[in-house]
Amino acid sequence: MEKNFYVTTPIYYVNGDPHVGSAYTTIAADAIARYKKTMGYDVFFLTGTDEHGQKVEETAKLKGLTPQAWTDVMAPKFMEMWKALNVNYTDFIRTTQTRHKDAVKKILKKVYDEGDIYKGAYEGKYCVSCETFVPENQVVNENHCPDCGKELRIVQEESYFFRMSKYQDALLAHIDAHPDFILPHSRRNEVISFIKQGLQDLSISRNTFEWGIPIEFAPGHITYVWFDALTNYLTAVGYENNPELFDKFWNHGEVMHLLGKDILRFHAIIWPCMLLSAGEKLPDKIVAHGWWTSEGEKMSKSKGNVVAPLDEVAKYGVDAFRYCLLREVNFGNDGDYSTNSIVTRINSDLANDLGNLLNRTLGMYKKYFDGKVVEGNKFEAIDETVKELYKETLKLVEHHMEKVEYSRALEAIWKFISRMNKYIDETAPWILAKDEAQKERLGTVMNFLVESLYKVALLVYPYMPESAQKIWNQLGYDNLDIREGKIEDIKEWNTLKAGHILGNAEPIFPRIEIEKKEEKKDPLAINEELVVENPIGIEDFSKVAIEVVEIVEVAKIEGADKLLKFKVKTGTEVRQIVSGIAKYYPNPEELVGKKVMAVLNLTPVKLRGELSQGMLLSTEEKKRIKLVEIDNSVKVGSKIK
Ligand code: MSP
Repeated sequence: MEKNFYVTTPIYYVNGDPHVGSAYTTIAADAIARYKKTMGYDVFFLTGTDEHGQKVEETAKLKGLTPQAWTDVMAPKFMEMWKALNVNYTDFIRTTQTRHKDAVKKILKKVYDEGDIYKGAYEGKYCVSCETFVPENQVVNENHCPDCGKELRIVQEESYFFRMSKYQDALLAHIDAHPDFILPHSRRNEVISFIKQGLQDLSISRNTFEWGIPIEFAPGHITYVWFDALTNYLTAVGYENNPELFDKFWNHGEVMHLLGKDILRFHAIIWPCMLLSAGEKLPDKIVAHGWWTSEGEKMSKSKGNVVAPLDEVAKYGVDAFRYCLLREVNFGNDGDYSTNSIVTRINSDLANDLGNLLNRTLGMYKKYFDGKVVEGNKFEAIDETVKELYKETLKLVEHHMEKVEYSRALEAIWKFISRMNKYIDETAPWILAKDEAQKERLGTVMNFLVESLYKVALLVYPYMPESAQKIWNQLGYDNLDIREGKIEDIKEWNTLKAGHILGNAEPIFPRIEIEKKEEKKDPLAINEELVVENPIGIEDFSKVAIEVVEIVEVAKIEGADKLLKFKVKTGTEVRQIVSGIAKYYPNPEELVGKKVMAVLNLTPVKLRGELSQGMLLSTEEKKRIKLVEIDNSVKVGSKIK
């Protein structure tokens, strides 16, 4: 295969700011894009934003903006975040762009011409948050989404369907013939068993809102947002407008989609079926990663435990953040983001292992050879073991990156780094330096060390590009950038020239001191910054006349089963009050004699023909309404102030 590589992230919904979940996939994509470049590939790396759909339309409305204006506010936030995380994408797609609308029209037409779209009616449940149709057998807790837990809506509308069922066998056969089509393999099995339960046709049009791409053959209908969104992977490589690019990256490239496990079914089922119908090649790898929790809990705004990437970057630096995300859990597994494990990793892997190797090497080179590379020629058996391990490391990195196992690739690199630190201890240059006769051997050892760092810089580059560059700078390669295909150049040992002047050692990864645990919050502390919604002044409140009254009679009202008719004694008279609480008091007579609170200066009204001269105050908890009862020692007529 030609050395073309096309990697994508999901396109992110623009409802909220980018968070650690979106940062994770995007950093992972950046790392593999950079890695493939070092392997000599031509790389196209795509990310972007998913801007249509009911959720965006509704959020925009809440913000008082048009959907387009709202997406125009949000899309740049993603671009800024990726810049801060040193993500070097080739293209950023927005589904509201003309090129994308054209591509969606094209694929719809192809699928339609194939006879795979028919008109029907959809009646069922829909999760607006996930933009998904939820079959009845997957609904949880009466009427809630199995994925996000939010309440489902009933949708009943005319709709066009995509004949997905037709591709069930072809898809199963493809998965079977391509073992790495869905990674990791555990997820592959999950997808297979889901398909085997039988694929349903998919509703791919909506006609009860407007924010989407119109369908030419179906006036009044817009494209279902997932059908629209998935097509972005074709749009960006020129499906509709650049046949050469499309041929290069889609038809003759290795195509890899990275995404979270929650959206695997869309990518591993709907998307390949769409492509089969449109007569396009299927992607090579669909790789699903796990889910991050924070300090052991699901992230949520209300718990205040959402990991904000930029805060982490400010605390630890961009490369340490990237490294920890990719190293901490193997891609595919769930992971927990905790300050403790992050700090431990930074201190041990970055500050100790890599940082020390660099500092010790440069420090000794300065001391023994005035910072000038020498060509030692006195080898010992230990040198061979280092070279062997290096070869092995290159192989392992390649193997793991093929399987998209970042953590394992990094583990292999760190094994080599640790070996080199041990090499220092075992060769003990400070002892060699004391003996003039060992000068040649000292030179060889130092050369091995600096050589290993030169190589390590390139090996860590995909994951930590800024640090790689810093290491290279400290090694005296100020203006040298790590070029594509560079792995080829560092395969052999002995790539450094004698006489090369090394730079100065400066710590790249400062140790992080673990902060003292925050003092436990006082559960009775008041919030001094409390913001009150729709505030009123005391003068507003004092306009309401609330008094303690006693219930002296209760009766049901003929023909109005929600209402009860009360006679209550106020401080000065008896009044009649009608209240809609019959459902909560099946034996209303029990209320007689109770003291409750009533608003007495409401304008009297007639409800179902009955005069109501006030309102009884009640509480509502979990949809259960209860009158507010007052202690018997309080006198009828007492004012509530
Ligand atoms: N717009 C769709 C994708 C369309 S792709 C054709 C979408 N967007 S999203 O913004 O909701 O989610 C994007 C990604 O963020 C998903 O891959 C999801 O798995 C990931 N994450 C969101 N929260 C996450 C964690 N807590 N942990 C890891 N990733 C998670 O879905």
